[in-house]
Amino acid sequence: MEQRSIFLIALVTLSLFCLALLSQAEAEAETDTTLRTYIVQLHPNSPTTTSLTVSNLLHQWHLSFVRSSMSSPNDGITDDPSSRILYSYRSAMEGFAALLSETEATGMRNLPGVVAVRPDRRLELHTTYSYKFLGLSSSSASGPWAQSRFGNGAIIGVLDTGVWPESPSFDDRGMPPLPKKWRGICQQGQDFNSTYCNRKLIGARFFTKGHLAALARTSPDEVQLEYVSPRDSQGHGTHTSSTAGGAPVAAASVLGNGAGVARGMAPGSHLAIYKVCWLTGCYSSDILAAMDVAIRDGVDVLSLSLGGFPVPLYDDSIAIGSFRAMERGISVVCSAGNNGPMANSVANEAPWIVTVGASTLDRRFPAMVRMGNGKSLYGESMYPGNRLPNSGQELEVVYVTGGDKGSEYCFRGSLPMDIVRGKMVVCDRGVNGRAEKGEVVKEAGGAAMILANTEINGEEDSVDVHVLPATQVGAAEAYRLKAYINSTAKATARIVFGGTVIGANRAPVVARFSSRGPSITDPGVLKPDVVAPGVNIIAAWPGNRGPNGLPEDSRKVNFTVLSGTSMACPHVSGIAALVRAAHPRWSPAAVKSAIMTTADSTDHMGEPIMDDEGRPAGVFDMGAGHVNPLRAMDPGLVYNISPNDYVTHLCTLGYRSSNIFTVSHRNVSCREVLRRSRGFSLNYPSISATFRGRATKKIIRRKVTNVGEAKSVYTVKVAEPEGVRVRVRPRQLAFERIGQTLSYKVWLISRRVGLRPSEGHLRWINAKYQVRSPISVNWNQS
Ligand SMILES: *[C@@H]1O[C@H](CO)[C@@H](O)[C@H](O)[C@H]1NC(C)=O
Ligand SMILES: *[C@@H]1O[C@H](CO)[C@@H](O)[C@H](O)[C@H]1NC(C)=O
Ligand SMILES: *[C@@H]1O[C@H](CO)[C@@H](O)[C@H](O)[C@H]1NC(C)=O
Ligand SMILES: *[C@@H]1O[C@H](CO)[C@@H](O)[C@H](O)[C@H]1NC(C)=O
Repeated sequence: MEQRSIFLIALVTLSLFCLALLSQAEAEAETDTTLRTYIVQLHPNSPTTTSLTVSNLLHQWHLSFVRSSMSSPNDGITDDPSSRILYSYRSAMEGFAALLSETEATGMRNLPGVVAVRPDRRLELHTTYSYKFLGLSSSSASGPWAQSRFGNGAIIGVLDTGVWPESPSFDDRGMPPLPKKWRGICQQGQDFNSTYCNRKLIGARFFTKGHLAALARTSPDEVQLEYVSPRDSQGHGTHTSSTAGGAPVAAASVLGNGAGVARGMAPGSHLAIYKVCWLTGCYSSDILAAMDVAIRDGVDVLSLSLGGFPVPLYDDSIAIGSFRAMERGISVVCSAGNNGPMANSVANEAPWIVTVGASTLDRRFPAMVRMGNGKSLYGESMYPGNRLPNSGQELEVVYVTGGDKGSEYCFRGSLPMDIVRGKMVVCDRGVNGRAEKGEVVKEAGGAAMILANTEINGEEDSVDVHVLPATQVGAAEAYRLKAYINSTAKATARIVFGGTVIGANRAPVVARFSSRGPSITDPGVLKPDVVAPGVNIIAAWPGNRGPNGLPEDSRKVNFTVLSGTSMACPHVSGIAALVRAAHPRWSPAAVKSAIMTTADSTDHMGEPIMDDEGRPAGVFDMGAGHVNPLRAMDPGLVYNISPNDYVTHLCTLGYRSSNIFTVSHRNVSCREVLRRSRGFSLNYPSISATFRGRATKKIIRRKVTNVGEAKSVYTVKVAEPEGVRVRVRPRQLAFERIGQTLSYKVWLISRRVGLRPSEGHLRWINAKYQVRSPISVNWNQS
């Protein structure tokens, strides 16, 4: 009896539940009342906005738009309109972020004064020795690094996952006082308050609203595991900000590996932290809010190691916010993305942004696999194996395949303990994270791991600090390993750890994962701009995270190793701070030109820089080349670009006036602009030309400004792209004074229709300087 009634109740509950689901589905089919975050861009010239800098009035003004767009009461949404506004923007963009239904967003688009309404986008992070590799060692203490006083006084704003303030990399010993122009704050939050800021870490804020709105919609029950404060819960932001401007820390290492002095590229710079990335990702509404504040706070450089897939510039909040930042003299540096080696994968490609790809260092962590058949495989590892008694032990090797559990990937719960226990387990890369595979093997009782690259990863070698003895082998070695396993009933192997080896391999090499050009949205501008170290970078790490970054890892370190264009970006942010400190009056375009025209096209053996497959790297792999900070501080000549030049350039892309308005906040008639500037060329430090149809000739115009020695003469040297003749007039530039600008023209004459792009370069040289621009040429028959 009792059992039956329980059953009935359960049945009734179940059918009620189904009914509820049904009616909910019906309601959604009628009108979608789900609220989502939208970024609403307003016209800045509207009569009221210019005087509306007081934030309360600004809020009222934005509220009036939300009220006008809100659905009629019988739609069932009758909440308080002011609760809908997440952010009011005024420096990175005029407008606001608000929670709107789809109907409301459509209505909003039609309101007078509204320029654009864009759904919020979720972007992702592009996950101590490098300063020495780049030529910044203590022996250069009297050179330009010292002259820039190591970036003294420059403020680098880092938009990332926050900061771990207790890290020795943020110690402020020897730092100058806060710059007078600094307006930022140290925001109070969970386990964080102003006492954590100092002369190194001068500001810290956090931006949650876009993230929380997305979380409420997608997974309201998700437990918050993160600090609601500028404090870093993931480690990424601590790593990137210390790479850009970390203080020198003696005897830094990752459990004994890579030991040495750790320091940022610009150890004299101040750091301002803007936490915009959470475990769910980085939302463009939060990023824009951070840029909005950072512009007013007074940063000199903005560093963003994050992004999404490429979108047109007028749909890209980072491109829009950074245009304003550039107008205010702020250098914006972004990672290119980790979607290489696929072509057209480069993100953050606006011409006013410095877009950074990743390359390798000449530091390796060899960990050979000695197989039972006497042969060896080359692998790399940061496992501190030398100090463990059993790390060189011979073990049986197993590679578990078959089934649908993803056991070859060592997916969680996929490894049968009876087969794996005590063995050396081979795991293919892919599906889950590299560090997680190590945790999975350990939990299943495995004694060691060999991570095997697949064809997708090629020979790329990003190491991790695994929780058990482990090494990683490239795709070719992985094939040999599996052939050996196939060939014998009982395969065995040992891992022989070789510690840290410096200078033995060729470097830099462009990393396989580094996103490649050409840019889809703007092929006339070569992207990425430069490459910088981004493979196996050692930098600061939070005290509550193990070195492999997973919550299960209970080891404690102050530093760990990470790879990605995320790690390359802050190297260049630091270099931009050095250039800014040495030349405070330079525009962002001049700073970027200095970094690009001085970049190296050869590696440390003097040979052309290669890609990971041993082919010479091209302009779409590495842009102008590998950054050279010492030369960047003294480039001789710079290519300057004014904000208006970028607007003209957008006109040449065929953008509609409304889209140009969205990006540049300028009301222009492109017909008028193009008529006034016939034959316009954006004064970019690299050259990219496409021959269309049967056109055989292109004229490119450039202007260089003398920032070297007053009286100086430069001569041009050209390496012609295949199939193209290059004429430069004049062939000599004679400067009389600093600040003088001279023009030249480049004729590109196509001698055939090439099927593939070809490339060369142009250099202005004299006894002291070499100012190099890569040239890329393409043919488009359609
Ligand atoms: C800041 O945090 C520290 C450490 O938790 C605490 O001792 C101090 O009282 C706090 N200061 C303020 C102003 O809240
Ligand atoms: C090993 O054997 C499996 C199953 O027979 C086969 O699919 C795989 O291609 C072999 N691998 C190598 C590297 O020989
Ligand atoms: C990390 O740095 C702190 C402060 O310099 C130091 O006290 C601590 O011992 C370091 N921890 C490790 C694991 O090296
Ligand atoms: C933008 O320019 C056009 C044409 O020059 C003009 O009609 C329009 O009113 C301008 N819009 C604003 C908001 O200034």
